[in-house]
Amino acid sequence: MTELNNKKVYVETYGCQMNVADSEVVRSILKSEGCVFCLSANEADFVLINTCAIRDNAEQKIHRRLRELRVVQQRQSTRNAKGYDIQKTYIGVLGCMAERLKQQLMRDEENVSFLVGPDSYRKLPDIMRRVAQGDRVSETVLSPSETYSDISPVRFDGNGISAFISIMRGCQNYCAYCVVPYTRGLERSRDARSIINEARALFGEGYKEVTLLGQNVNSYKAGDMSFAQLIANVAEISPELRVRFATSHPKDLSDELLATMAEYPNICRCIHLPLQSGSNRMLKLMNRRYTAEWYMDRIEAVRRYLPDCSITTDVIAGFCGESEDDHRATLDIFRRVQYDYAYMFKFSMRPDTYAAKHLKDDVPDEVKKRRLEEIIMLQGEIALRNNQRDVGKRFRVLVEGTSHRSKDQFFGRNSQNKVIVFDRGDAIPGSYANVEVTGCTAATLMGRLVE
Ligand code: 5AD
Ligand code: SF4
Repeated sequence: MTELNNKKVYVETYGCQMNVADSEVVRSILKSEGCVFCLSANEADFVLINTCAIRDNAEQKIHRRLRELRVVQQRQSTRNAKGYDIQKTYIGVLGCMAERLKQQLMRDEENVSFLVGPDSYRKLPDIMRRVAQGDRVSETVLSPSETYSDISPVRFDGNGISAFISIMRGCQNYCAYCVVPYTRGLERSRDARSIINEARALFGEGYKEVTLLGQNVNSYKAGDMSFAQLIANVAEISPELRVRFATSHPKDLSDELLATMAEYPNICRCIHLPLQSGSNRMLKLMNRRYTAEWYMDRIEAVRRYLPDCSITTDVIAGFCGESEDDHRATLDIFRRVQYDYAYMFKFSMRPDTYAAKHLKDDVPDEVKKRRLEEIIMLQGEIALRNNQRDVGKRFRVLVEGTSHRSKDQFFGRNSQNKVIVFDRGDAIPGSYANVEVTGCTAATLMGRLVE
């Protein structure tokens, strides 16, 4: 069998934070085999593409990337004595798109040698050894129990300040538009002890912020440990360790969690609460299992427990059967909530979902585009106004590094997760600084260091 020792591996990650965390698990598994990691596909023996399947354009991007990589492969292949190409760079597709497309992806993309779904990363070393001997391998069985809890992620692309910790996997909410239950399987929680130990070890290494990740963190349950209890345990590690989490489903956002957040100042004042639509008719069709009234009740609860909390959201424009009234209901909720940030998407029909089987993608593309534009415009105004309200306030900022705009400036984030740029002075990346906000755009706060 070919050894993986000293093989060069390049990992490229697309999609959500969960995928970033998964790539770190993959690196850990391969590091134990002696693989070394490189910074570009050009130098690699194995190129691993960790993929996203959430919308069609995410998949198209991967197809384009795979075509580009063909050139890299051709450049690196050599001829043997008989004039046949000897392949030197093997390409593997990991993650949600591998899981969704399975063998079809192998048929369509001839330069892909292996496919590995999100629950099969422990098999990667064996798979890669087989691939190096000329096999093409596909491993996409989902597991009801895999959480990779014993694997210490290798945070190769990280900044040494802020880290993701995956606390649960999968999703079984079956929102009508969403492919995730099919690509990531059933919901399962990782055992609490391993999560707390990982957070403690990170803090010991100098990390100052951890983000607990799951498709729906509020349904975390391990033994009798709820998510609120888990996050309290992580927050107890040190008041100097910031704790964030993503993402919450509005139907499960409990008062228990809000009360716990209020108790610990180091649990960050930022809640991501995907709305998807402001229309009850759409919410029902989407199988979201809450109404606009319920959603607003949860927003009010957040405001009550955590008056300085920022609120962010996800929204979809142009879901099946969406009327102008439905769209206006979404705009209305945006006006009422005054989100600090929103991820805004045009509906993209995904194969195998409830929508694909039972609903019609009947909103014309130009209407979807226009509605999305209207939401983006409105949200731009709201974000600017929210930021203007921060001018004159002082925040404790975790300094992350040099700003893109100028090497004389640092950037960091406040508890509300807003980016603040300021003249670097004597601030140090990886530590906290007090910053007064002096100006803003819709996306960024500008400030100056204060005592
Ligand atoms: N089309 C458009 N957006 C989608 N999302 C999920 N599925 C789709 C889809 N088919 C969005 C939702 C979700 C976010 C991660 O992606 O808003 O919260
Ligand atoms: Fe993440 Fe969802 Fe994309 Fe999968 S499909 S990588 S879970 S965003």
